This record gives sequence, structure tokens and C-alpha cells, in this order.
Amino acid sequence: MLQEADNSYRTIRVAPQPSGFGAEITGPDLSHPLDRETLAEVKAAWARHAVVAFPDQPLTLDQLEAFTQQIGPFGKDPFIKPMPGHPNVLELRREPDEKATNFGAGWHSDWSFQAEPPAATLLHSEVVPPVGGDTLFCDCAAAYAALSPTMQRMIAPLRAVHSASRAYGTKGVFARETEKRTLQIIVSEEAEETLTHPLVRTHPVTGRRALFISPVYTVGVEGLTPSESQQILALLFAHMIQPQFIYRHRWRPKMLLMWDNRCTMHLAEGGYDGYLRLMHRTTVAGDRPV
Ligand SMILES: [Fe+2]
Repeated sequence: MLQEADNSYRTIRVAPQPSGFGAEITGPDLSHPLDRETLAEVKAAWARHAVVAFPDQPLTLDQLEAFTQQIGPFGKDPFIKPMPGHPNVLELRREPDEKATNFGAGWHSDWSFQAEPPAATLLHSEVVPPVGGDTLFCDCAAAYAALSPTMQRMIAPLRAVHSASRAYGTKGVFARETEKRTLQIIVSEEAEETLTHPLVRTHPVTGRRALFISPVYTVGVEGLTPSESQQILALLFAHMIQPQFIYRHRWRPKMLLMWDNRCTMHLAEGGYDGYLRLMHRTTVAGDRPV
């Protein structure tokens, strides 16, 4: 249920979700370059609501790429083969007869194991199954804000260890799977690498603090024992995925969704075996988390 449009915008119509996390934007035609004011308002609405949906936007791959670059330069997408002739576009296609677990089925923030993880991910729906296939988002800034001041102080100095190993490593989920998958995943030793980011990061645009951890890519906390790491992360994950921090996105065909990886995590639901689902995805480069 969307709220009344927020009339503080001049060039676009922004209808926020009741919590303020997530919004639908109508008005602009994303198949053409946006003028400066419209682009600024789209970016402002995105900063404010973190996950913005643009319904009824039939876009070619070229137009999706062009809009992405109006938000910022492309990010680098490892471990998945891009579309032929479109090195910055991933085609997320799941065939009706596919049995492998749907892609993105665990909570994560895209490529958080990179030194400079992507600021934005854009996902455009081509074919939407009649059942299932929702994308769930967690508001990691609201989740941080809801922690006690004591817990906030406790976790403030911590650095979380991120790695792609559980998903893309040589012993990871994809390496072990036996079902056929249309998406071409490149399992690699490179995925075993780890790096650390602040467990609480500050958003470079809004200045809001957010928990920057996820069950898929956060494998520990620097300086803690494995048991201590596991327990504090489990406590924080259980806190983050409470209903009050979640926005459930329901897809319609030809919808563009843009989310902010710096203050959200997301999960792709399945439940559409027997139906084709087809999406195109791009990412926008981001900064080193601070
Ligand atoms: Fe993702």
C-alpha cells in the first residue's frame, strides 16, 4: 500500500511505502536521457527511500545501460558471465524447467566483498512469473537506528570480514550444485579472498549510519573468535530481518527497480518453478565503505 504522493518534487511523482523505506516513482520516461532537474530529483528520492521502483518502463538494453550511466559509472561484476555484446549487463534468466535454487536466495548486499562495492543495482523485469519471485529488502539504516545506544557503541569500532567464498568459492554453494542453471556462474579461487569493512558504515550522501553485514557475504568479525563472531552476527541478523525493517517488492513486467547497496540488503524469493522469469541487471560503482 503506497502513501499519497510526496509533493515536494516538481518533475516526478514519488509515492513512498508507509514506512518511508521504498517508493514508486512515476513521471519520467527512462528511455531518454533525463534533464538535470529530473535526474537530481530521482537521485534525491532514491537517497531518501533507498529502493525505488519505476513501473511501466519498457527499456532496451541500450536504454538500460544509458540510464544506469546517468546514475554513475558501471560497477565491476565478477563470477557471472555477462551478456554477449553487453559486458555490463547480466541476464538473470530462469527457465520453467529449472530446478536449481533461484539466484540471490540468501540475504546479501551486492558484491559487498569488493573493496569498493557497488552503490546501486538496477534490475529491469522482462518476464515476471504469475506467482512467487518477489524481492525482499531490509532497511539496514533503520535496523541500526533501532539498536540500543549501548549496542551501537559496542559495535561501532568493529570491522566485518567479507568474502564471496560461501557462494562462488571452489567449495561454495554454486561449486557443489548439481542441477542445471541457465545463469553462467564462474566458480573461482579468487572468491576465497577476504577483506574487511566497517560493520557500521556511514552513507556518503545521506550521512545515515547502517549495518553493513549480510549472512551470505559476511564471514566473521575482525578480532573476535569464530564463536564470538558467529554469535554477534546471528544476533544482528535476527534483529535486521524483523518485519518492521522489510519491504517486499512485487514485480510487474517492464518495471525498473534501483536499490542502494550501502544501506540495504536483499533476498530473491523463489516459488515460481514451472514459469520463466527474465530480468536484466546492471550495477553502479560505489566508494570504499567508511
Ligand atoms: Fe543481489
